Amino acid sequence: MEFNVKSGNPEKQRTACLIIGVSQPRKLSRAGRLIDKMSDGFLSTIIRRGDMDGKLGQTLVLHNVSGTLSDRVLLVGCGKDKDLNEKTYLKILDSVSSALDNLGAMEAYSYLTDINIKGRDIQWKISQTVMQMEKNRYHCEQLKSKKSETPKSIRKLVMNVPSRRELSIGEQAIQQGNAISSGVSLAKDLGNLPGNICTPTYLAEQAKRLQKTFPTIVVEILEEKDMKKLAMGSLLSVTAGSQQPAKLISLEYHGGPSDQKPVVLVGKGVTFDSGGISLKPGLAMDEMKYDMCGAASVLGTLSAVAEMQLPINVVGIIPATENLPDGLATKPGDIVTSMSGLTIEILNTDAEGRLILCDALTYAEKFDPDVVIDIATLTGACIIALGRTPSAVLGNHSPLVNDLISSGKQVEDKVWELPLWDEYQDQLKSNFADIANIGGRDAGAITAACFLSRFTRKYKWAHLDIAGTAWVTGDNKGATGRPVPLLTQYILDRLVEK
Ligand code: BES
Ligand code: MN
Ligand code: ZN
Repeated sequence: MEFNVKSGNPEKQRTACLIIGVSQPRKLSRAGRLIDKMSDGFLSTIIRRGDMDGKLGQTLVLHNVSGTLSDRVLLVGCGKDKDLNEKTYLKILDSVSSALDNLGAMEAYSYLTDINIKGRDIQWKISQTVMQMEKNRYHCEQLKSKKSETPKSIRKLVMNVPSRRELSIGEQAIQQGNAISSGVSLAKDLGNLPGNICTPTYLAEQAKRLQKTFPTIVVEILEEKDMKKLAMGSLLSVTAGSQQPAKLISLEYHGGPSDQKPVVLVGKGVTFDSGGISLKPGLAMDEMKYDMCGAASVLGTLSAVAEMQLPINVVGIIPATENLPDGLATKPGDIVTSMSGLTIEILNTDAEGRLILCDALTYAEKFDPDVVIDIATLTGACIIALGRTPSAVLGNHSPLVNDLISSGKQVEDKVWELPLWDEYQDQLKSNFADIANIGGRDAGAITAACFLSRFTRKYKWAHLDIAGTAWVTGDNKGATGRPVPLLTQYILDRLVEK
């Protein structure tokens, strides 16, 4: 879809559809009042009749409104002014998006950028509009032989800015919204692909493809023999039962000065998690194709950052493997030595995410990171603790954790902190090795993070458990692209602070 910014009065716009806000109770926005005046009170008459109260999300289409140059006027309910916030703004955009789907209009001109959201500027409103429209237009039809007929649908949206002075900010906001949207849909596409197509090799190819698109990204793929040389016994133990070769993918984006320490993102890339010898029950096991959504979010974020050409250095590291049972698979009770030298007793082969991440986190040291953030569909326990609204965040550096919380709030890609207290570390004691890979039933999301914390002592680190947020389960099953918005916002926010 194409986006544009313009500045001008609504009655002067020659467009297929003007989009105008109405708040509760029955209150026209500034643009609405202008049109009302030009049409001799037509809008206020309609409102008085009770067809449009301004209730949040309500929509009403009017045709041939006199005094305008536009074919249609779409009135959109914005709720009460005092209830306006980031979330209600997105809800308003959401209803506009579905209303436009049911119209014949191929383009529209929106005055919803005039709505006042406390603490949010025009830049935010424009980039959010782009992202919301693109989000609603995403369909996963990669593997359908017949693509669904897209009804005559909107191709272009113009957004109004208060004056010509804001045009260039607006254009930049559109570019940002587009870049983040492409990152989100890349992450969704990869997540939605089945395990027989999206293998570790496929992920490596996708990284190479990013390198082709963006010369600022340099990719390196390590093979199993390279991992052996690096003594990544823990990562290799997970791939032991798989016929597909594991890959350790790294992507370096150079946008900042060469002496600037990078942000390092480490994404769990288990392209299918059967549990291994500790086999999972059958119910919903297909959803374990999503166990590479951490990896997908790293690729999506790097793509967004490179498309925006941000002046910062970012590294992505993706340990990619399957987790399958086999005669050669790792067994419960097996003890392996990680790259860091710590020995691990694998009491449950289904706790494989931490086993691949720990070696990737040790490998991250070589990039001399400023901060490291790992992203993983790590524990079912995280869903039990927090549900599917926020991702969990835990870390060893509270400013980093707080930055992630605040960036997440800005883009409705929320995270909630769980405590990483020392008391929990005891649950990982092993009688035979330095550490066990599971910590019992209690606090499963926290003990998983405790495990990772043993490998992240040399840098500032935060862990995002996205088990509940990376995809939607049920009738609307599909990847969400989270936390690409959060991660890109975090990187954007770093640029402002520094
Ligand atoms: N990938 C799963 C976690 C998961 C499960 C995410 C369901 C989303 C939905 C992970 O590898 C796993 O199997 N974790 C185990 C850990 C347990 C064995 C300590 C879990 O959560 O059951
Ligand atoms: Mn597992
Ligand atoms: Zn897993």
